[in-house]
Amino acid sequence: MSLLEQIDSVKQAALAELRSAQDLPSLERAKGGALGAEGSFTSLMKQLGSLAREERPAAGKAINAAKQELEAALQERRTELELKAALPKDPTDFSLPGRRRAPGRIHPLTQTTADIVRAFRRLGFAVADGPEIEDEYHCFDALNTPADHPARDSQDTFFLAGAAPGQRPLLRTHTSSVQIRVMEKQAPPIRIVVPGRVFRRDNADATHNPTFQQIEGLYVDRGVTVGDLKGTVTEVFQSLLGNEVKLRFRPHYFSYTEPSFEIDFTSPLVKKMGKEWLEIAGCGMVHPAVFERVGYDPEVWSGWAFGFGIERIAMIRYGINDIRLFYENDVRFLSQF
Ligand code: DAH
Repeated sequence: MSLLEQIDSVKQAALAELRSAQDLPSLERAKGGALGAEGSFTSLMKQLGSLAREERPAAGKAINAAKQELEAALQERRTELELKAALPKDPTDFSLPGRRRAPGRIHPLTQTTADIVRAFRRLGFAVADGPEIEDEYHCFDALNTPADHPARDSQDTFFLAGAAPGQRPLLRTHTSSVQIRVMEKQAPPIRIVVPGRVFRRDNADATHNPTFQQIEGLYVDRGVTVGDLKGTVTEVFQSLLGNEVKLRFRPHYFSYTEPSFEIDFTSPLVKKMGKEWLEIAGCGMVHPAVFERVGYDPEVWSGWAFGFGIERIAMIRYGINDIRLFYENDVRFLSQF
């Protein structure tokens, strides 16, 4: 057999062995058998030296080509075997059940918030957000509530240390601060709702908790009326809690609205809880001084705003009489929703 023929048959044998290796260790053994120091291919290369001068170039070329072919086959098989090694050992059982939703439910306050937001979105409102750590300006001054204003103590604020009076950081006492943040950034018209957490130093009892949730609304456009406010709020409450709900708007005072109202709510469920009316929100027509603070012309723009307490609404919705239940994380309570 000529050397060229030998090269070809050694190559074929080595290729077959590389390609049929079933795992990485046997591939390495096959590689050693062909290309290692004692390998079949290596010993062929050693014979090159004993060839006649004129035969060497052709034989050398054939050996190099064959070697490249072997290296390529080795690399290809290695990749295949590495992939195979990475796959799970046991075959996949497609009859197994799929991944289940984790046990547990959405918290009743989250469900209530989502439903209120959905009702407002249907009417064209967008959701806005703002910081829970606020400053006195956005929480009070810009809402027409100066430092000596009595409404300012009634809020009973958690102040954070670290700045001069008048600029103290605080935990926002209401989501109304976000009205200012949005109007500072955006030109009218505005139609937003702002769900969020607020903080007050109220003593905890069945209806008060130091932190609770509100949803703020703000609508600014030309020629907005109290009728728009009543219509919008009534529509949302009826879509949320049924057509038998009734709302009552009672005159009230807020420094950032004029006129201002409190909204009382009644439904068969409220009566079952032994009450005639429940107070659920403050609202009113945005005060011209607030518009001036954010650079809106009060002669051109008018608007209304409201702030609902989410816990109150959830209590009415589910017939719950103690607000603290929402925060105790007792699964016996939470699993009922
Ligand atoms: N910020 C008030 C509160 O926390 C609620 C409120 C009243 C919000 C009137 C408003 C409003 O936007 O216009 O009690």
